Amino acid sequence: MSMKVPFFNNTQLEESFHYREDDTPDHVAIIMDGNGRWAEKRDMPRAAGHKEGVSTIVKIVKTAIKSKVKVLTIYAFSTENWKRPKHEIDFILKLPKEFLSIYLPELISQNVRIEAIGDMNNLPFYTREAIQHAINRTRDNDGLQLNFALNYGSRHEILNATKELIRDINNGKVSLDELDEQQFSGYLYTAGVKDPDLLIRTGGEKRLSNFLLWQLAYTEFWFTDVLWPDFSEKEFLHALEKYRERERRYGGILK
Ligand code: FPP
Repeated sequence: MSMKVPFFNNTQLEESFHYREDDTPDHVAIIMDGNGRWAEKRDMPRAAGHKEGVSTIVKIVKTAIKSKVKVLTIYAFSTENWKRPKHEIDFILKLPKEFLSIYLPELISQNVRIEAIGDMNNLPFYTREAIQHAINRTRDNDGLQLNFALNYGSRHEILNATKELIRDINNGKVSLDELDEQQFSGYLYTAGVKDPDLLIRTGGEKRLSNFLLWQLAYTEFWFTDVLWPDFSEKEFLHALEKYRERERRYGGILK
């Protein structure tokens, strides 16, 4: 696949490595939008935009590692994306396997831990197998946590969490009176993961598209018109900078 570019080399590491700034967001979530338009503008098939989008993932993962972001969650395939033509769905769902077949060794050496959120059951076997293998191989790493949101839909997630919770209330595992937000969060795919500090959406649209509705309650949003395949390290660092300028009050007031 032509997306093969070196992930890191030693010179790059020495030249650009910098230590985490205190106000770097711990968790960045990204809605990678604009692949199709990027391709259409070039009279190319939409698949070419998705392929180029994978090269952007490589760049942004690398930059997130350098910036010492702790968790990066990327929206790769939503529960609504099944409405697309079959050939486009098939193409997108083959990309995780292609990406991991090239980059997993480098991700392992960079101490990245791979996780997935979403309903893995309805994904093709080759997608599930590649993701599960990557999860198993990186389980003990404690660097960047890279979450792939695959067949993810937030309403589905919340509904499932509620059903499971009701089962646990009925069988006495959970007390309805003592149930709190933290306990509820434990029933979501993101159990144990800090809520995103920053959400980036590329491609110009200003909506959440059923992404992390519960988890984004107090997240700072950064929208850009740049299409995902054109999104660069510079743009990502700019979004982190803009985040640092924000005042997070969580509904309170500044002292
Ligand atoms: C949105 O752009 C993008 C997607 C629905 C797919 C994103 C998937 C990838 C970049 C590949 C995932 C791969 C890995 C390795 C996890 P769009 O097609 O909606 O763009 P448009 O709004 O311009 O039509």
